[in-house]
Amino acid sequence: MGYEIIGTGHFVPGAPVTNDDLSRVMDTSDAWIAQRSGIRQRHFAGEGVGASDLAYEASKRAIEAAGIEAKEIDYILFATMTPEYIFPGSGGLLGAKLGIAGVPALDIRQQCAAMIYGIQLIDGLMKSGAARTILFVGAEAHAGFMPWEDWDILTGEREGEVSPEARERANAHRALAVLFGDGAGALIFRRTERDAGLVAMKVHTDGRFAETIFVPGGGFRTRPYWKATMFAEQAYIPRMDGRELFKFAVTKLPRTARQLCEETGTAIGDIDWFLAHQANLRINEYIREHLGVPAEKMPMNIARYGNTSAGTLPILIDENTRSGNLKKGELNMLLALGAGIHWGCALVRW
Ligand code: ACO
Repeated sequence: MGYEIIGTGHFVPGAPVTNDDLSRVMDTSDAWIAQRSGIRQRHFAGEGVGASDLAYEASKRAIEAAGIEAKEIDYILFATMTPEYIFPGSGGLLGAKLGIAGVPALDIRQQCAAMIYGIQLIDGLMKSGAARTILFVGAEAHAGFMPWEDWDILTGEREGEVSPEARERANAHRALAVLFGDGAGALIFRRTERDAGLVAMKVHTDGRFAETIFVPGGGFRTRPYWKATMFAEQAYIPRMDGRELFKFAVTKLPRTARQLCEETGTAIGDIDWFLAHQANLRINEYIREHLGVPAEKMPMNIARYGNTSAGTLPILIDENTRSGNLKKGELNMLLALGAGIHWGCALVRW
């Protein structure tokens, strides 16, 4: 018994926002962003649009591609670090939107590493018999933590300049703000008689580094858990130690990939595709070169979307499935690292 992907879909909201557009609200440039990260544009969810709305659009496309009806889904796994509410999670909202209220929905919060943990859960749910058709969705609406308020100036709907104070506030978070974009990817997994699914994986968490990227405000350690002063301190915006994260990613991910290969007797050359989370093009180039992976085996889409956190790997898988790159029976490696810090690699054959 195994399980395979029978349908994929993705959705990104609105028109792309270019690096030059960002320079309307803070001091940055296309050259700085592209050279440091490989990003050229990203999308942002509009006011009132939540992660489950983006997930709904992506899921509809995956359901259509699978040629099934939504009611055939018997489990939802929803990954996001930007849910509609602190609680409950967005999975139940998605189930209701899809017209399958009552189907269990499990929310996971492994940020950019969500797909790696997701695969482990899917494996367990399938093998235990708890599920036969699982909808895995990664969706993010990061727009709510962006450090500017003049969205109309950013998009060019309104002519004019932001105030010097607003520009200064945004500048304080510019290294973070240029990296993230919104979007959702959905994958439908179904049990099959074929020998398909997770081959092996290595997954880790190191909470000592939790504050390498985290949201300082709005947590249940203060009374109340949200205070007006937190808004003044911009405590709703994540704090990120970009250099430390960069170092962590280029050290841990190649090491974990090598260990996984050694433990399973897999040569790098045996692997058809390396599907890596897209946080920074330079991180992935480093990993690729370190492992000796040819460029054509590691598809990248960060230039168009930025880092869509939990959305990234499902979006990448959807694009490369629809383009005909990914084929049944191939051996693929997934690699990801995210806030937590959670990271890992998985060998899969779908
Ligand atoms: N535009 C122009 N200049 C900028 C910008 C910007 N957007 N951001 C920062 N700068 C300036 C800084 O102020 C600094 O100037 P100074 O030298 O005069 O002080 C200079 O550029 C260098 O800044 P650094 O932050 O040191 O730049 P670095 O080379 O480290 O690149 C970056 C920053 C792109 C964020 C990089 O560290 C990185 O990508 N790190 C990984 C981040 C990551 O992976 N995040 C995802 C986390 S995973 C998750 O689960 C969410």
